[in-house]
Amino acid sequence: MATAVYPGSFDPITNGHLDIIRRSSVTFDKLIIAVLENEEKSPLFSVDERVQMIREACGGIENTEVRSFSGLLVRFMESVGSTIVLRGIRAVSDYEYELQMALMNRELSPEIETLFMLPSIEYNYVSSRLVKEVRRYGGDVSSLVPDVVLRALENQFS
Ligand code: PNS
Repeated sequence: MATAVYPGSFDPITNGHLDIIRRSSVTFDKLIIAVLENEEKSPLFSVDERVQMIREACGGIENTEVRSFSGLLVRFMESVGSTIVLRGIRAVSDYEYELQMALMNRELSPEIETLFMLPSIEYNYVSSRLVKEVRRYGGDVSSLVPDVVLRALENQFS
C-alpha cells in the first residue's frame, strides 16, 4: 500500500494545495497531509487552526488524513511508515528550493523519494504568502482559497 506524505506550512491552505491533494489522492492509496509547527516563521494561523481548515477543506476527498509535525520531516516519515514525500512545484523558481530540500532529505534518509506534482495551470501563481498579502490590503481572494480559509482571513483582517 503506497502512502505519501504531503508536507508544508499551509499558512493557509490554498486552492493550489487542494488541487495537488485531489490529484494525489487518486494516485496513492493514502495521503497524509503534514502541517509543520513552524512557530519561528511566525505563521498567521496556529497549527491547530491550519489543521482544522485543511480537514474542512478536504472533507469528501477520500484517503486523506491531516496531521501536524515538528522537527525533521524524515523522522515524521519514519513514524508514519512512508517513504514518499510529495511536493507541488509551480514555476522554475520553486525548483531550487525544492531540490535542496529533496537532496537534504535523501542525505538524512536515503530511502525517502520526493515526487513532484504540477498543479493546474490556473493555480500556478497562487501562494499562501501572496493570498495573505492581497487579503491584508483588501483584495479579493475568493477564487484562490476554500471558503473556510476565506472566512478565517476575514476574521483576521476585518
Ligand atoms: O510549505 P513550505 O513552508 O514550503 O514547506 C516546507 C517544509 C515544511 C516541507 C519544510 O520546511 C520541512 O520539511 N521542514 C521540516 C524540517 C526539516 O525536515 N528540515 C530539513 C529538510 S529541508
